[in-house]
Amino acid sequence: MKKELKFLLPALFFIAGCTHADSPKEPGKDYPVYGGNKAGNRYSPLDQVDAGNVRDLQVAWMYDTAEPIDTNDSKPLRAREIQCQPIVVNGVLYGTTPELKLFALKAGTGEQIWKFEPSERRLNVSRGVAYWEKGNDKRILYIVGPSLYAVNATDGKRVESFGKNGIVDLHEGLSAGLDRDISSLFVTSTSPGIVYKNIFIVGSTVSEFGDAAPGHVRAFDIVSGKLLWVFRTIPQPGETGYDTWPKDAYKEIGGANNWSGLAVDEKRGAVYFGTGSPSSDFYGGNREGSNLFANCIISLNAETGKLIWYYQTIHHDLWDRDIPCPPNLATIKHDGKMRDVVVQSTKDGVVYVLDRDNGTPVFPVEERPVPTNGLPGEKPSPTQGYPVKPLPLSRQVFTEADISDISPRAYEYIKDQFRQFRSDNKFTPPNTEGTLQIGYSGGAEWGGNAIDPDGIFYQNANENPWVLRMVDTATRNKELASVSRGNALYITNCASCHGQDRRGSGTEFPDLGDIGGRRSFDEISAIVRSGSGRMPSFQQLPEADRTAIVNFLLNPRMARQSEAHPGQAGAATAAQKTAFGFKPAYVSKEWRKLYDPDGYPGIKPPWGTLNAIDLNTGDYLWKVPLGEFPELTKKGIPVTGTESYGGPLVTAGGLVFIAGARDEKIRAFDKKTGKIHWEYQLPAGGFATPITYEVGGKQYIVIAAGGARGLKPGGKYIAFSLK
Ligand code: HEC
Repeated sequence: MKKELKFLLPALFFIAGCTHADSPKEPGKDYPVYGGNKAGNRYSPLDQVDAGNVRDLQVAWMYDTAEPIDTNDSKPLRAREIQCQPIVVNGVLYGTTPELKLFALKAGTGEQIWKFEPSERRLNVSRGVAYWEKGNDKRILYIVGPSLYAVNATDGKRVESFGKNGIVDLHEGLSAGLDRDISSLFVTSTSPGIVYKNIFIVGSTVSEFGDAAPGHVRAFDIVSGKLLWVFRTIPQPGETGYDTWPKDAYKEIGGANNWSGLAVDEKRGAVYFGTGSPSSDFYGGNREGSNLFANCIISLNAETGKLIWYYQTIHHDLWDRDIPCPPNLATIKHDGKMRDVVVQSTKDGVVYVLDRDNGTPVFPVEERPVPTNGLPGEKPSPTQGYPVKPLPLSRQVFTEADISDISPRAYEYIKDQFRQFRSDNKFTPPNTEGTLQIGYSGGAEWGGNAIDPDGIFYQNANENPWVLRMVDTATRNKELASVSRGNALYITNCASCHGQDRRGSGTEFPDLGDIGGRRSFDEISAIVRSGSGRMPSFQQLPEADRTAIVNFLLNPRMARQSEAHPGQAGAATAAQKTAFGFKPAYVSKEWRKLYDPDGYPGIKPPWGTLNAIDLNTGDYLWKVPLGEFPELTKKGIPVTGTESYGGPLVTAGGLVFIAGARDEKIRAFDKKTGKIHWEYQLPAGGFATPITYEVGGKQYIVIAAGGARGLKPGGKYIAFSLK
């Protein structure tokens, strides 16, 4: 008798669960998809933890990924950052380690069930994984470097029948219609793809420069790994959007990639996603036109990949204003009518609310004239769209009134910079004198936003000014001819991020000036070959060139003496045949975040905020600083907020959980007021999005605390629950 009862109970749960497409067994108890559900809402109906008891949260378990990268090496090759938002299916938590091993844990205890090691050591980041099941066949789909793996969710073994021995190469489907080989170009995907029926739909992360692979979105059969369809984000002759480029642009231009993830509407059978800018960043003289489908929000038939609609957020992007996070599918009440919408926030801090069936904006977007004084050869778009509502999440231009005033020293320094690099308009085209740009590592970022069933939208936003200065290739080549081959290759391939002087930029791009003191030849070579975090891989460079760069970094002066004379002519040729597939007429000479002399952002605070917007009306409910520099608060400066990475999670318990700030705390905000109800000092920064789920009648909140460059290294997943 007893036995039978035990058997019956789960069966009842199963029936109750059938109405919910998102959770295979117990609705709302799991967290089965990156973003919480296929609509990407980062919402959980769990309410055991609420404003009244959240202060009593305790650490329930910690899972240590136990990973310095080489066991006999105390310095991991990359910052031990975990950007992964894990998933929970049937009480099992799946996530990745800093080294991109995949693991399964008992979600109630943190006890490891299995760990899977990818065959190649890769140094990119992973923001999450995807789950699929059919009967007893349960799989995790996850991406390391260019490899899409299918792993058995039960035992952690490769599904050998998928692709080639469990792997599909993400270069697949990118080169159709091109007469060039793109197999050596950098392609990975930091965000997981999304599952629709037995179809896995996925975008890509590619280079930002002349050697970028095209960013086409692909669908693979989850059972076999077979390519099902390709949606070309850079259209070819005969395809919609082809006429928004020069005739042969598709043969050499890449990018327009979906690196930020996707959402699926299972009822409509439609997939939604955003794309990034076309290559190369900052100069578009060779890609005259509006450049569809770069910088677009797109809806496709999930089964066939056929275009349903698109909406372009930036025409002819010259500022690297990618769409940085997955869209979010919500239902709002607008003008008395219920409307299904797609919500997309952007790097420049704008929020689009579009009709889900046809892509038309729900709130007005005004097309306004913008500056067209671009670099020679450049034809900037004469107009750009300005959403009237909701108002932007972050400032759109850096004016004199925005110069940081946290100290007289900061003010004087930034004022001087402001005079040199003034920018009056959000859409001022890049130039050789230098401009101040907002909208890179600003506004919304890859963590995305959360939306609750009432249509309230929660988004963290960053405010960071950057200096951008361009140089023409003739001047650049002259510079290259006067330096060693290694130096020339460094300038061409590395200086845009690490600076011509190798000094890097703040916490974004490490200082390589003293790299020899930290890293061996082999370690640097490995980083250049495989990439690391946000740094692309340079696998496509000939090994001799990579060696020349590493030698230059280890010994800049020696490299010059031994190579400069015979190599002078050689230097320019070496630089010419670098990673660049084609040569833009202008490249960036300086691209750095504007910091004050003490290392704080050069803009007046707030530097980071958490926002709540009522999407039914488009009005803000509240806006509060997110994160703190305690040393500044002590001096009497109001809480500034900090840059944050990783998004929010909203629960039926009335709370918004978020970490991601540089003070390494996780917090719970009251979703109605923005008041902080709980905060916890993590052992290392949680630059990831938290999740919540229920196991054994208990609600857990989990965050990956991996730390970041310039902060404490971590490597743990931490679970909280009430006692
Ligand atoms: C698109 C920007 C970008 C480009 C281009 C780039 N890097 Fe990086 N690089 C980064 C970032 C970001 C990191 C930090 C990675 C991390 O946190 O794992 C990094 C890290 C490194 C490190 C490790 C530093 C340390 O302190 O351990 C080395 C070495 C390096 N880069 C060398 C190069 C070289 C050589 C090139 C050119 C061949 C290059 N990078 C091109 C962005 C870039």
